[in-house]
Amino acid sequence: MKILCTVGARPNFMKVAPVLEALRRHGHDAPLVHTGQHYDRKMSEVFFDHLGMPAPDINLGVGSASHAVQTARILEAFEPVLLEHAPRVVLVAGDVNSTIACALVAVKHGIAVAHLEAGLRSGDRSMPEEINRVLTDRISRILLTPSKDADKNLIRENVPKKWIYRVGNAMIDSLFSHIDAARSLGTLEKLGVEEKGFALMTLHRPSNVDEPRVLTRILSAAGEISEEIPVLFPVHPRTRKRINDLKGAKPSERWPNLRMLEPLGYLEFLALQGGAKLVLTDSGGIQEETTALGVPCLTLRENTERPITLSEGTNILVGTDRRRILEEAGKVLGGKAKRGRCPDLWDGDTGERVALLFDQIDAEGLLVADHPTGRIPLE
Ligand code: UD1
Repeated sequence: MKILCTVGARPNFMKVAPVLEALRRHGHDAPLVHTGQHYDRKMSEVFFDHLGMPAPDINLGVGSASHAVQTARILEAFEPVLLEHAPRVVLVAGDVNSTIACALVAVKHGIAVAHLEAGLRSGDRSMPEEINRVLTDRISRILLTPSKDADKNLIRENVPKKWIYRVGNAMIDSLFSHIDAARSLGTLEKLGVEEKGFALMTLHRPSNVDEPRVLTRILSAAGEISEEIPVLFPVHPRTRKRINDLKGAKPSERWPNLRMLEPLGYLEFLALQGGAKLVLTDSGGIQEETTALGVPCLTLRENTERPITLSEGTNILVGTDRRRILEEAGKVLGGKAKRGRCPDLWDGDTGERVALLFDQIDAEGLLVADHPTGRIPLE
């Protein structure tokens, strides 16, 4: 079966890599389209290298722009590629602008959309990703979910149960298959830190970095933590621009142990997550990776679309209040970290389960009757 797979931004690569590998291993024709939403070597190419992922067959080269312009560029550039390839299914992943844009083009041509990581909801419509999630799920026909809470969200939104397939967490496939290689790179030694002797921070959500007061508050909490334990801080390009715009002393001058680094490759970053005493983040994926690794995570947000990392994993929502961040960090550093377990189906076999599902769809087809065009070749 022809399944056109799409990626666009950094968090897509580790999700799609194991699925693409399994689809091709099962004999499906699975070309890969990169929208070019992320384009710097450090935000994109390095992940293909580290994940052993085949180079994209097509790169749309859309680059950065406002949400509207970026999304529009993808819509325009993806359509001729879709028409040329005429796949039976388009696979999109996660919640970035590339996800909704590729899904929208496909569904308007009557081509079924499979959404990897369907059903996650933060309930916070001020997050661009939440809009992307809700809309992508609404127009998807094959909803590939990572956990039971995601199934429940979709059922609550009246998605027919038979469209929902709980396959587990594909990103954790990538984690399990690369963690040993990551640990053998000597990244901690190169950065002069010891196992469990440092904290790791990432920050890139517009709500945290675009507002100088919030950004300053988070940086000063991290700065205070760095007086107890070094804090390694690989800085996203968006965040670096915002920090450069801040008035007053640079954070690294004020707190020499708050160590701002360039964005890291997949393997180096995995090694740091595995070795950290504590992770502070506003990323979605890192909440999941720390849960899988059993590393304490403080999430610098008021909500999460990944509540299973709170109920089963090592994650705690701390928001952006300085006192609260310091209080929870103090508990971890004082040896009272929350323990957790790895959720069901976060087991390294998600790619395989997706490929088996597509084998079945290929053999049996899916329902056409419930689509007005009758062209969605499903069920
Ligand atoms: C995007 C995703 C977000 C994801 C994040 C991971 C959306 C709506 N947001 O946010 O969900 O968590 O990626 O990184 O899709 N830039 C570079 N080099 C690059 C890419 C971006 O320098 O390769 C700079 C550009 O100045 C750009 C800014 O970073 O304006 C933001 O990039 P953009 O893709 O718009 O959003 P992210 O903040 O990365």
